[in-house]
Amino acid sequence: MQTLQEKASEWSGVSQSDAFAIDNDDTSLYEKLGLQTFINLSTNFYTRVYDDEEEWFRSIFANSKKEDAIQNQYEFFTQRMGGPPLFSQRRGHPALIGRHRPFPVTHQAAERWLYHMQEALDTTKDIDSDSKTKMMNFFRHTAFFLVAGDELKNPKQGIPCKHAA
Ligand code: HEM
Repeated sequence: MQTLQEKASEWSGVSQSDAFAIDNDDTSLYEKLGLQTFINLSTNFYTRVYDDEEEWFRSIFANSKKEDAIQNQYEFFTQRMGGPPLFSQRRGHPALIGRHRPFPVTHQAAERWLYHMQEALDTTKDIDSDSKTKMMNFFRHTAFFLVAGDELKNPKQGIPCKHAA
């Protein structure tokens, strides 16, 4: 009997490890890396974001306190990557499209977010290259899922994401 993952990878024509990059290992990223690494990663990421020389990007975060943004992010990552449901216990359902509704999540903003996250991953200690690849795949997927959500919000405004066609 095929597992759901085997069926899904047959349908999509990609290997299981590509299709379920962060979900299919015996050891979760949380078990492998530990809570402190997620705290370090989110601190590193948001330090870059709040110091960004690109004012248009930095200003998207102007109404959030850096410490709160860090905690929201590492609790979400912890939960999404196999750890305890810290985010949902404190904040409720992630509902990421809804939570990003107030912000301009454009294609350009997604690329800037991913740029800072790649830099943060590369400079946070104790993250092996396999984990980095898995996380970046997940972040890229989620970032453009949010861009698509943003375009549904304002279908007639702005320049459409080039991935939308
Ligand atoms: C694509 C570009 C993105 C932009 C411009 C953006 C922007 C923001 C902003 C301004 C906040 C508010 C900060 C706070 O108070 O926590 C936020 C929160 C958050 N973002 Fe994003 N984000 C992006 C991508 C992502 C991605 C890729 C993920 C997940 C992989 C993500 C997950 C979250 C989470 C979990 C929160 C906290 C929500 C809450 O607790 O209410 N974001 N984001």
